[in-house]
Amino acid sequence: MSDEIKKGLLGIVVDETTISQVMPDINSLTYRGYAVQDLCEKCNFEEVAYLVLNGDLPKKKDLKKFKKLLEENRNITINLREIVKHMPKKSHPMDVARTIVSVLGLEDKETTDNSPKANMRKAIRIFAKTPTAIAAFFRARKGKNVIPPKKGLSFSENFFYMCFGKVPNKDIVKAFDVSLILYAEHSFNVSTFTARTITSSLSDIHGAITGAIASLKGPLHGGANEEVMHMMSKIKKPENALKWINKALDKKEVVMGFGHRVYKKGDSRVPTMEKYFKKVSAIKKDKKFIKIYDTVKKVMIERKNIHPNVDYPTGPTYHLMDFDTDFFTPIFVISRITGWAAHIMEQHAANKLIRPLSKYSGPEHRKVMLLNQR
Ligand code: COA
Repeated sequence: MSDEIKKGLLGIVVDETTISQVMPDINSLTYRGYAVQDLCEKCNFEEVAYLVLNGDLPKKKDLKKFKKLLEENRNITINLREIVKHMPKKSHPMDVARTIVSVLGLEDKETTDNSPKANMRKAIRIFAKTPTAIAAFFRARKGKNVIPPKKGLSFSENFFYMCFGKVPNKDIVKAFDVSLILYAEHSFNVSTFTARTITSSLSDIHGAITGAIASLKGPLHGGANEEVMHMMSKIKKPENALKWINKALDKKEVVMGFGHRVYKKGDSRVPTMEKYFKKVSAIKKDKKFIKIYDTVKKVMIERKNIHPNVDYPTGPTYHLMDFDTDFFTPIFVISRITGWAAHIMEQHAANKLIRPLSKYSGPEHRKVMLLNQR
């Protein structure tokens, strides 16, 4: 057995998956064999969620059934609504999201049943209810009334409705839907691997998704979309962008929304999200963020040959859609629940406890001296 250390599991293949394939050499990403770009143009988020969870695109009648199932499961208990309303207003919404899934686990009658059918039912409940609870916090912390889900609306429309009390125009909804499709799944990233690791001890889906949310919060992972917005706010005006980015690179700062562990020549999701970011900017008649975006991107590629990742365009897009910055990563959550759930079910189906080794580098073996002899 080799005792060579691969920090961050760099380059290590730990298991197989049938859910998605990241192909860095050709800048491509497929879900269950379908290119994400194609899915973004031809499908809505519900179809893609069905695909990720079930392995194939739904037929008309499957989609109808799936949408009905989601609608029926969207309501949250009074208990959970009250918990959300009483959470400290200054809590980070990602911590609230983590707590929401934890509470859903306490309320779920099938929490300890890890059979494939029970896991799918629980996945649907988590997927349907989490946006409702997150939207409740979005409003409650501003002292606004909580808006329950509304039948007849799509997943994305309903999320806007529960946050803002109205549904924006269809192009904005499509851009949001596209962002959810792009966020749904991405092989063995750190939060998914966290979910699989938790599952590998035969723990339950609520616990695995709770852990995955904690992992996604970090700025090196999903938290980057919020950091991108903080960076753009610091830059303030397009005229400041060139000076700002050059100074940041001179100081060897990490620029959020750039770089990726797997993609080194560009993130396959960026061109699609960039297109929708531009559409939203045009609808909102806002050129400021596009200009900052382009300048920072150009310098990052020219000076460092480091390309943007998907969090770079999603950050300003969500801002233009009027979401609070600290809700950007929770939006990532409501989509990625599908990918995590699929991985949790895949892990259960062919489980092996995940337990790597470590190389000890602490003190030599030593004797314990009694307290009065130390
Ligand atoms: N800004 C500036 N420099 C960066 C960078 C960034 N965003 N991303 C990578 N680099 C540099 C590193 O400083 C390092 O330079 P060095 O070799 O001179 O030390 C080199 O590129 C390799 O980076 P490294 O951190 O080893 O790559 P990684 O595969 O471990 O990290 C990330 C990948 C995503 C953690 C990293 O690119 C990053 O921190 N990006 C910003 C956070 C982000 O956007 N995360 C979302 C990912 S989808």
